[in-house]
Amino acid sequence: MRARTPTLSARDLSWRPRARRDGSACRLRRGASELAPADAPDFLGALQRLGYHAFRPGQAEAIEVLMQRRRLLLVAPTGGGKSLTFQLPASALPGTTIVLSPLIALMADQVRALEARGVTATFLASTLPGPEISARLGAMARGHYKLVYVAPERLGAPAFRDICRRIAVPLIAVDEAHCISEWGHDFRPEYLQIGELLADLPRARVLACTATATPVVRDEILSRLGLPADTPQIVRGFARPNLALHVAEEEDRRSREKLVDRTLEVALGRGPGSRPPAHASQDMPAGTAIVYAPTRKVTEQESVRLVARGWRAEAYHAGLEGPQREKVQARFSRGELDVVVATNAFGMGIDRGDVRAVIHLAPPGSIEAYYQEVGRAGRDGQDAMGLLLIAPGDLPLRRRLIERGGGDDSPPDPAVVEHKWNTFLELMRWAEGARAATTRSSATSATRARRWAAAAAATCAASSRPTPTTTPRPPP
Ligand SMILES: Nc1ncnc2c1ncn2[C@@H]1O[C@H](COP(=O)(O)OP(=O)(O)OP(=O)(O)O)[C@@H](O)[C@H]1O
Ligand SMILES: [Mg+2]
Repeated sequence: MRARTPTLSARDLSWRPRARRDGSACRLRRGASELAPADAPDFLGALQRLGYHAFRPGQAEAIEVLMQRRRLLLVAPTGGGKSLTFQLPASALPGTTIVLSPLIALMADQVRALEARGVTATFLASTLPGPEISARLGAMARGHYKLVYVAPERLGAPAFRDICRRIAVPLIAVDEAHCISEWGHDFRPEYLQIGELLADLPRARVLACTATATPVVRDEILSRLGLPADTPQIVRGFARPNLALHVAEEEDRRSREKLVDRTLEVALGRGPGSRPPAHASQDMPAGTAIVYAPTRKVTEQESVRLVARGWRAEAYHAGLEGPQREKVQARFSRGELDVVVATNAFGMGIDRGDVRAVIHLAPPGSIEAYYQEVGRAGRDGQDAMGLLLIAPGDLPLRRRLIERGGGDDSPPDPAVVEHKWNTFLELMRWAEGARAATTRSSATSATRARRWAAAAAATCAASSRPTPTTTPRPPP
């Protein structure tokens, strides 16, 4: 067992921004003493250049710890503004910051926003034509960019690694850092290469960001990145007061569909076929919804159904061709879709503030995955809802998905299967408790709890894999 790392909470830090008497931008300070000499980067000035008037809770503290301790693992809520904690130092420090990010759409969005603010940034992805990649690498070698976003696959390219060694790299940011952990919910094997890059550039500061990481996953992030166990960690609360979460058990297909339809209408404030108000603006956006489905087939069936009802809906999953996925992402970002029906391939890093509902047609793999997915609702701080539909058939379905593994031919490690199964059961216990809390019938509840336990046991008994060590407890 690795030793647990100490955790800083934002409250432990007594930092407050202090304005200069003449009202001009000041530098980060801690207590009475200057954090850095007079030629230190002007972070508050950089904040304004990025288009923000003030820090959100926790941002300044995170930047300060990163600057002082040069290493930070930041766990903060979805939509909390983690990107700023690397974009701001990157824009103010000399040299080129490398940002590792799992999704091209996310990189492209952030690069567009930074360039609109006059910060030179680019991304490197295999979808770009070869000459374009060469041109961007050439500009990177000349120190042209403040930020270069790359997918971790790029770390296998010797030319890129060579440029990193030759230029000044003040900071390496690992976004969605939970992807490095096989015990997390979005494991990406390519993330394992990041440790090598950090070892190559020992003088760079390192920031790892994620919205969801259990203590085990946090330990794993540090160890896989080759960071010491005493690396500072800031773990912020997960509460999202503007999100109303509902869990419903509906076995009958028609009643499930009705509930989805009703939730969409309530959340979007309009019926299918009616278009968002023409005066939708940044202040009063049109609103959109994401429906998560457990399989690619279900995304397509449900999007066909919603289109037939009059919604502007599209399916999104990893089996679609790249251009089709990009088209759906772009239509979603431009506000041209009422609903995207997707597998978990959609959404990481999606930054549309006015997602008013996230509906799960079946539970995802774990509480962390659910938090991440439902957290895409209400990023603008306005009311939003999450609806999680559950049914006893979810257990065998999830078991099959877990046993199928990550898609390559090798069977998944039995220990990983067992771990994932247990994290799924944890979510089911939470869901059953949440459902029972809104459906007031203790007798029914006890019956349902027994049914869940029986279904879980039957699913495991039917499986060739090891049985889990955890069985569902009755709901509270
Ligand atoms: N200080 C700030 N003031 C106003 N808006 C901000 C501030 N910081 C960030 N934002 C906005 O908040 C939104 C969410 O920020 P960001 O994408 O960085 O969140 P995140 O923590 O990375 O979330 P996720 O875990 O979902 O990736 C963005 O639209 C961003 O522009
Ligand atoms: Mg983010």
